Amino acid sequence: MTNTNAPALIEPEPMVGAGEIGPTGRPMPDLPAPTPPDPSHPKRALIIAMCNQKGGVGKTTTTINLGAALAETGRKVLLVDFDPQGSLSVGLGVNPHTLDTSIYDLLLNKRTAAEDVITRTVVPGLDLLPSNIDLAAAEVQLVSEVAREQTLRRVLTKVRHSYDMILIDCAPSLGLLTINALTAADKVLVPLECEFFALRGVALLTDTIEKVQDRLNPELEVLGIVGTMYDARTLHSREVLERVVEAFGETVFHSVIRRTIKFPETQVAGEPITTYAPSSAGTVSYRLLAREVLFRCPGA
Ligand SMILES: Nc1ncnc2c1ncn2[C@@H]1O[C@H](COP(=O)(O)OP(=O)(O)O)[C@@H](O)[C@H]1O
Ligand SMILES: [Mg+2]
Repeated sequence: MTNTNAPALIEPEPMVGAGEIGPTGRPMPDLPAPTPPDPSHPKRALIIAMCNQKGGVGKTTTTINLGAALAETGRKVLLVDFDPQGSLSVGLGVNPHTLDTSIYDLLLNKRTAAEDVITRTVVPGLDLLPSNIDLAAAEVQLVSEVAREQTLRRVLTKVRHSYDMILIDCAPSLGLLTINALTAADKVLVPLECEFFALRGVALLTDTIEKVQDRLNPELEVLGIVGTMYDARTLHSREVLERVVEAFGETVFHSVIRRTIKFPETQVAGEPITTYAPSSAGTVSYRLLAREVLFRCPGA
């Protein structure tokens, strides 16, 4: 579990305290420790789509680890693998090739029940709706369906009362699957890699979100942009974050996700960083992001 190649990369920095200038160049807010949801309240999950048509920006990593950090707060969380590559499923130790049923069946076979497809994960309170390459076929088959953009929404409506939060891991495209995710979601969270060309493509994403708001889901809101793969030692990472804050202001989360080799390691291990390396900088980053998400979504 120890990394001998790049020890500097896993060295956790001291956390920035409330009121001190954080990595985004703004004073860190005082984020209260989350309290568990009220058990007497009927559940109606808040649905958040992780979206960026660029691949490799940390959508899947954020879905798994934000989900695990939210589950640690006592929330019941469902993670939806909505990428035919099935990376979310793999990252949670599920082999996509051996699935009997997957999200494909829920989208296109009306007789499949969500309960039969949802699986538990190693984290208590964290469930998974797995996918595999069949989902690519679903994208093609959905084209000829009535209300094809609302298919995922219909599926999630049936399980919403069993969860506090549902996180959807989108595919790296702005095709029909992602449109379905944005139509099903209450909020969209955009992971943005802290590298020079990160902002390229954000205009197209914003445009797509606005179209969905106009035509399919007027309730959809941008929850925030989170900087990922942040390397505090490089001026470059800090400059990119500065530019992102200039462009998007308060939409940008104060929490940023550090670059650490632990994340690729967790993928191989098939578990979240919160259980794989509970005291690592990566775990701290996602726990802080979970706090900030709950702070922005009172009642969730
Ligand atoms: N903060 C991070 N530090 C280092 N590597 C990361 C980090 N976040 C993600 N990765 C790695 O980068 C690759 C792409 O991340 P992933 O979450 O799969 O992106 P996406 O889902 O947007 O394609 C994966 O190998 C993942 O392990
Ligand atoms: Mg992914």
